[in-house]
Amino acid sequence: MLFADTCVGREEEIVALLTRTFAASDGPEEGVLIGTLADNLLRRTDSKDLFAFAAHGDCGAVVGAALFSRLTYARDDRTVLVLGPVAVETNAQGKGIGRALIAHGLRALARAGVDVAVTYGDPAYYTQLGFAPMDQAIVPAPFALSRPEGWLGLCLAGEAGEIAPLKGPCRCVTALNDPAFW
Ligand SMILES: CC(C)(COP(=O)(O)OP(=O)(O)OC[C@H]1O[C@@H](n2cnc3c(N)ncnc32)[C@H](O)[C@@H]1OP(=O)(O)O)[C@@H](O)C(=O)NCCC(=O)NCCS
Repeated sequence: MLFADTCVGREEEIVALLTRTFAASDGPEEGVLIGTLADNLLRRTDSKDLFAFAAHGDCGAVVGAALFSRLTYARDDRTVLVLGPVAVETNAQGKGIGRALIAHGLRALARAGVDVAVTYGDPAYYTQLGFAPMDQAIVPAPFALSRPEGWLGLCLAGEAGEIAPLKGPCRCVTALNDPAFW
């Protein structure tokens, strides 16, 4: 398995992967929603606000993708990225690819000087990768969260300890700027 620190040139393949994977796991409507989100992130987001990682199988095809985009805190100059969406090809799931891809991405982000990674998903999965539940008073979210228990964060800078409160308000990239995602 090879991990790439860019998705440039593979946008169409990755959008198709995310669309069919989420359609298989959560139904066709979710597939379209997440596929459109991935398209907007990959093709319509400023490159300085997007960090995209892909897992390539032996024949070179993309079998997994993890997209991180910037969260901006109005009164805080730390670099914060939110992970999502992330997916692994349905027939390749459960083999550790997702975990290895996200861990690879997090290491690359730490090397690039990113301070904090957050995500909004299943705590049972993401806590295995070092994410911990977060209080929105410490790490404000860009929208009211329908599942606050899924708001998770990981400090990547320095000693990688607790996240010091981020001073909002918080703004996400345009692609995620829709309450449907939160
Ligand atoms: C979630 C996903 C990216 C994980 O990738 P993966 O390569 O299958 O996961 P790994 O093999 O690295 O990890 C497997 C572990 O995750 C758990 N897991 C897999 N999918 C999960 C999910 N959707 N929610 C919670 N846990 C999940 C497995 O039970 C397993 O746990 P274990 O090792 O303790 O038995 C992948 O299953 C996927 O694409 N799912 C559909 C889309 C999705 O739900 N994406 C996440 C939301 S953005």
